[in-house]
Amino acid sequence: RIRTLHNVAELRAQVRAWRAAGERVALVPTMGALHAGHVELMNVARTLAQRIVVSIFVNPTQFAPTEDLGRYPRTLAADLEKADAAGVDIAFVPDVAEMYPPGFVTTISLAGPALGLETDFRPTHFAGVATVVAKLLLQTGPDVALFGEKDYQQLQVVTRMTRDLDLPVDIVGVPTVREADGLALSSRNVYLSAEDRATAPVLHRALQAAAAEIRAGGDIAAAVATARAQVIASGFALDYLEARHAHSLAPIAAPEEGPIRLLVAARIGATRLIDNIGVD
Ligand code: PAJ
Repeated sequence: RIRTLHNVAELRAQVRAWRAAGERVALVPTMGALHAGHVELMNVARTLAQRIVVSIFVNPTQFAPTEDLGRYPRTLAADLEKADAAGVDIAFVPDVAEMYPPGFVTTISLAGPALGLETDFRPTHFAGVATVVAKLLLQTGPDVALFGEKDYQQLQVVTRMTRDLDLPVDIVGVPTVREADGLALSSRNVYLSAEDRATAPVLHRALQAAAAEIRAGGDIAAAVATARAQVIASGFALDYLEARHAHSLAPIAAPEEGPIRLLVAARIGATRLIDNIGVD
């Protein structure tokens, strides 16, 4: 059965015991409100390690004051059931004071893949993500940590950070789990009205069409422009829809410049959705 731990000392002691027994350890960082996308990360983790730690922590430092920290869905009992059913050994559920004790001031400073896209709309977001992920990696000391491609820029930021800081962990990306109509699973989908939920799959469809056009030799800027128009015509307020280099996330104008990723963020009603797709 899954065990819930609330402090770092207990977590370290457990991981040390597993290590001594020669077992590999995987970490799946989450903010709870677990859905089938999170469970997929746990399923992949089981193929890579004997032991799985899932962290559940709604990290205040990655939310701007205007964002949904206060109303972010909190469903701990159901989360523990799902994690247990997925074969998770430990749920690490620290409180805010355990992660950010009085006097905490240090954050990780980012560039490269953290520039642009989400950062243009959520300027402090990735500093909060990187800092909490670095802490979770150092607290747990896993062999491998799993992140969803759903948050593609986050995955690139975390990958870059672990390399730059020589954190001894393999970062593994897991493909996005989608609803039957293509909408990427997200804890924030519960905010959508029935009408907005019906419109939401347009994001994936527009990215798919643009990717197909680029694969067929179409101009990248033209494909992106068509996709933007499609998203806006469906009633979204568009934050961005961009073609970027799949790893550096630098702007990309021609297929020869490297693998391409299309990324979108758009708002419908009061809900902000993100999605992305690989072209190659
Ligand atoms: P959260 O939004 O809870 O997501 C936890 C992990 O699940 C992330 O790696 C995310 O990319 C992945 N995920 C979410 N929806 C998915 C889907 N539909 N398919 C596949 N994977 C999916 O991302 C965070 O939390 C936080 O920023 C965190 C990394 C925990 C740091 O606080």
